[in-house]
Amino acid sequence: MDSKPTGAKVVLITGASSGMGRETALLLASKGYLVYAAARRVEKMQDLTGFGIHTVKLDVTDEANCLALVSHIVQQHGHIDVLVNNAGYGSYGAVEDVPLSEARYQFEVNVFGLAGLTRAVLPHMRAQRSGLIVNVSSIGGKIAEPHGAWYHATKFAVEGFSDCLRMEVAQFGVKVVVIEPGAIITEWNGIARELLAATSGKSAYSVLANKHIRMLERADKFGGKPDVVARAIFRAIRARKPATRYPAGGGAGMILFLRKLLPDKSFDWVMLRMMQ
Ligand SMILES: NC(=O)c1ccc[n+]([C@@H]2O[C@H](COP(=O)([O-])OP(=O)(O)OC[C@H]3O[C@@H](n4cnc5c(N)ncnc54)[C@H](OP(=O)(O)O)[C@@H]3O)[C@@H](O)[C@H]2O)c1
Repeated sequence: MDSKPTGAKVVLITGASSGMGRETALLLASKGYLVYAAARRVEKMQDLTGFGIHTVKLDVTDEANCLALVSHIVQQHGHIDVLVNNAGYGSYGAVEDVPLSEARYQFEVNVFGLAGLTRAVLPHMRAQRSGLIVNVSSIGGKIAEPHGAWYHATKFAVEGFSDCLRMEVAQFGVKVVVIEPGAIITEWNGIARELLAATSGKSAYSVLANKHIRMLERADKFGGKPDVVARAIFRAIRARKPATRYPAGGGAGMILFLRKLLPDKSFDWVMLRMMQ
């Protein structure tokens, strides 16, 4: 089928059934972007259609599903301008307690899902000689917590992956940015807490794990709102020369500054104190 180029910038956002992805879809639609909102729970995105947003069912771990969606968008509009790789979850539990099958799935969603969609959009962005890939990492891509080894490993991976990609695709006019949210009130926290409780709540690691669960509960009261992250993504999309990284909300800037300042063991001490 011949593609018909359309005027508005076309954006694909993953993980748009909740939290930051949903807020980003709504904000970008209100600014005149042509938005595709993708997630597995398509029923949770029904109301987005009322804002002119296209909602699509997508499991980011299904490479064929990712490729088919990107070709559908390009066939419909003739271009794809922005990919926001936002889908993700926190698989929490002590290293000894988390089965490697779960650790692999955490990488499938948070890293290989992001990489698969990136690979799907790149041929089109290279041909257009323009495009922006926004990878939602975390302050967890720079700092560490006990019981978060697999989640943090994925976000450290997203940071390194994005830095490599940025240099690789600059020659084709394609840009890459990383978003580093702090603690944001979304479904993420409850999922991480439940996984931590189920995995290590009664194991040899239970004492510290239960303190960690209470720290996550507190974060759900004092965290930032997801619209802060949506606005950071919008700033990156609008910028002629975007920054490489955008810390966003939930004390992200301060925590990343502390991480730079403190030696490893002092930062460990701060982290463990926060769990007391
Ligand atoms: N909340 C925080 O404190 C925080 C802080 C830093 C970074 N982050 C990161 O920010 C991103 C967005 O998280 P959020 O806080 O907005 O969490 P959220 O409310 O739980 O939303 C996560 C989204 O990811 C989607 N998702 C999960 N697995 C998927 C899969 N296999 N295929 C497709 N979509 C999938 C979910 O949709 P379906 O289940 O419907 O598919 C959902 O829409 C994540 O990458 C997260 O790691 C969160």
